[in-house]
Amino acid sequence: MSEEIKIQDCSVSYGENEVLSHVSLTVKKGEFLVIIGPSGCGKTTLLKMINGLVIPEEGLVSVNGAPLEEENLTAVRRRIGYAVQGARLFPHMTVEDNICYVPCLERKMTKDEKYILTQKMLKMVELPEELAGRFPRQLSGGQQQRVGIARAMASEPDILLMDEPFGAVDEITRKGLQEELLTLWQKTGITIVFITHDIGEAFKLGSRIVIMKDGGIWQEGSSEELIQNPKDEFVRRLTGR
Ligand SMILES: Nc1ncnc2c1ncn2[C@@H]1O[C@H](COP(=O)(O)OP(=O)(O)OP(=O)(O)O)[C@@H](O)[C@H]1O
Ligand SMILES: [Mg+2]
Repeated sequence: MSEEIKIQDCSVSYGENEVLSHVSLTVKKGEFLVIIGPSGCGKTTLLKMINGLVIPEEGLVSVNGAPLEEENLTAVRRRIGYAVQGARLFPHMTVEDNICYVPCLERKMTKDEKYILTQKMLKMVELPEELAGRFPRQLSGGQQQRVGIARAMASEPDILLMDEPFGAVDEITRKGLQEELLTLWQKTGITIVFITHDIGEAFKLGSRIVIMKDGGIWQEGSSEELIQNPKDEFVRRLTGR
């Protein structure tokens, strides 16, 4: 598998506060990488470094072999879908306009093209077609999250960054969304970097799991490796053994 994302020796500070300290991480093409760790340990900061929302003051981030720079940032971002906690849809736009938002930035789309794309995406996340004309406030929380995923996937990205995307839904909806995401990942071969607080979710989804602590990567491996060879008491507790 080739390298899709490479983070080399990156450090990020907010004022005096060093949030990430010399972090290195490689994500391979087609991998489903899950990041887990205590609140405030730098997970979101790490994810934002991948699409250039946070620029490290030291180190290098490359996506598909090309270092992230001012000049190529827009081009790189087009290849990346970003779904954040709470799935903040644009409240004044219909489901269709939300889903077509990024593709419409890239090219002029006709009414028919928007309709076709929306129907395809709704089907992908298993939502009924008649939701296309509704506004976010007319959807349930779980439906909003599905639309958020559809929106992130609509530009056919090669990489999907997900920051606790299923945080705000009930257990049953969450299980359904997890299943759908796994199916989507298997069908498309997309590279996913996914942040969660829930070790059960990490074990279920991740082909590899990265545990973060104190602004760095504490341990990484498959669920079996982490359970069988925890580095210390912290990992043992986290994995519930
Ligand atoms: N824009 C900012 N300015 C100053 N400090 C920030 C900023 N963004 C994040 N931080 C701080 O950096 C640290 C890491 O934040 P980050 O959002 O990466 O954590 P996290 O691991 O995603 O936490 P959570 O699990 O709660 O989402 C925290 O201490 C946070 O308060
Ligand atoms: Mg976070």
